[in-house]
Amino acid sequence: MSDHETTTIDVAAVRRALEAHGQEHLLRFHDELTPDQQRSLLEQIERLDLDELAGLLGAHAASAETAGLPDDLEPAPYHSRAEAASDDEIGQTHRKRGLDLIRRGVLGLFTVAGGQGTRLGWNGPKGTYPATVVTGKPLFRCFAEQVIAAQRKYGITIPWYIMTSPQNDAATRAFFTDNNCFGLLRQNITIFPQGTMPSVDAETGRVLLADRDSIALNPDGHGGAILALRESGALDDMRSRGVEHISYFQVDNPMTRIVDPVFLGLHAGATDSSGEMSSKMVARRSADEPVGVFARSGGRTMVVEYSDLPPDLAAATEPDGSLRFIAGSIAVHLISVAFAEQLAGSGTDAALPFHRARKKVPHVDVETGSSVEPEEPNAVKFEKFIFDALTLASSSLVLETDRTDEFAPIKNGRGNDSPATSHQLQSDRAGRWLEAHGVEVPRDAAGHVDAQIEISPLTALEMEDLVAIDLPRLVGRGEELVL
Ligand code: UTP
Repeated sequence: MSDHETTTIDVAAVRRALEAHGQEHLLRFHDELTPDQQRSLLEQIERLDLDELAGLLGAHAASAETAGLPDDLEPAPYHSRAEAASDDEIGQTHRKRGLDLIRRGVLGLFTVAGGQGTRLGWNGPKGTYPATVVTGKPLFRCFAEQVIAAQRKYGITIPWYIMTSPQNDAATRAFFTDNNCFGLLRQNITIFPQGTMPSVDAETGRVLLADRDSIALNPDGHGGAILALRESGALDDMRSRGVEHISYFQVDNPMTRIVDPVFLGLHAGATDSSGEMSSKMVARRSADEPVGVFARSGGRTMVVEYSDLPPDLAAATEPDGSLRFIAGSIAVHLISVAFAEQLAGSGTDAALPFHRARKKVPHVDVETGSSVEPEEPNAVKFEKFIFDALTLASSSLVLETDRTDEFAPIKNGRGNDSPATSHQLQSDRAGRWLEAHGVEVPRDAAGHVDAQIEISPLTALEMEDLVAIDLPRLVGRGEELVL
């Protein structure tokens, strides 16, 4: 059978399937394409799950107004960092348990780096963004240096898994190759792409064409990580290496403490943790800070997206004036490999719901054939969120951490959560570490460090590690210091 005949047969079958779902416009330009382009388009269409999409479109129309919060919603309890990491017996027990587990090599690292980073507007994978204060080290290098430092400190090998998207996978791999994996062994780094979902027109529910021969696809959200971990073989690789717990973190926070003995000790051994999935939180700065909020319903921990939290609950306060729903999610989790396998293997992953977001998606107008660069959100993207797995854990623990210790995300080009705010937080933490070792550090009227200070994880993974380093007696106002 010739290629031409194969294509003809496929077109007829594919057209019928599309017509049955009201998506036949995807073949609008088919007859004008080259044979290679036709084949590519048909393959993309065949990979679509049209029934699932129809279900989602129906569900979203039906549920748009009925989605609500449970009546018994209450703030999630959490362990305070001070209590968990204290020098008393309980604190020491958590730390020691975590250290033992790390030294046994049961911890694997997992960065989700498949996002599109549209708010930052960086032309490349977000992990390649220059993040540090003075030397502008890219985000991936920030984590790689932590891995190297932790491997040295604990005398182990820590495998690192990185989820990309089909759109940024090749660029991410090339970046690691070009940078010689930042000094890590390539065999201990696993890079794999996540799944995708079609972007649909917000008004009509029709799948958008990115081009005449290609469907507009978006990564299926960080919740897509569960299936991608299984389908890429990463979970099997973890098992073969003896990894039992996954340190999950996002690519855009250079201050994430990716190997944290206290957190691991609590997750694996605290009486209120089933050891399936745990989370870190910071106290929300204000009622309108756009972070998800840890809550509890029916005894299960959950994250309520900030956009879903009614203003009265978002602003509710305790008698001392503090926010009642105080625990903001920083998207840092520990997930046991067994729990990830259970989610991915038993079909429960399908129970992670798709959320929809209205976004601007460039596309080709199927009527005119011209390219459209929308000024306003025109499309719906379907994404899964990893934190929806929390409600499937039987007992899920939340640990408080200090914003200035661990949360300096780079999400936006300017304003909140931008390179500028991240740099200030990085300098603030570095200044605090130096002050704890007797160094005089300049501060401005608001109490922020008034200098640009960068401490590599290779110099100090934790504040205590600075004890072994030759430090200056003081840092000058406005000075740039790299340690
Ligand atoms: P964000 O929610 O900040 O999304 O992702 P984003 O796509 O990076 O950025 P915007 O919204 O387009 O500006 C939080 C984390 O989850 C990862 C991102 O890479 C980031 O580390 N992520 C997000 C994925 O890995 N896959 C996705 O499909 C979405």
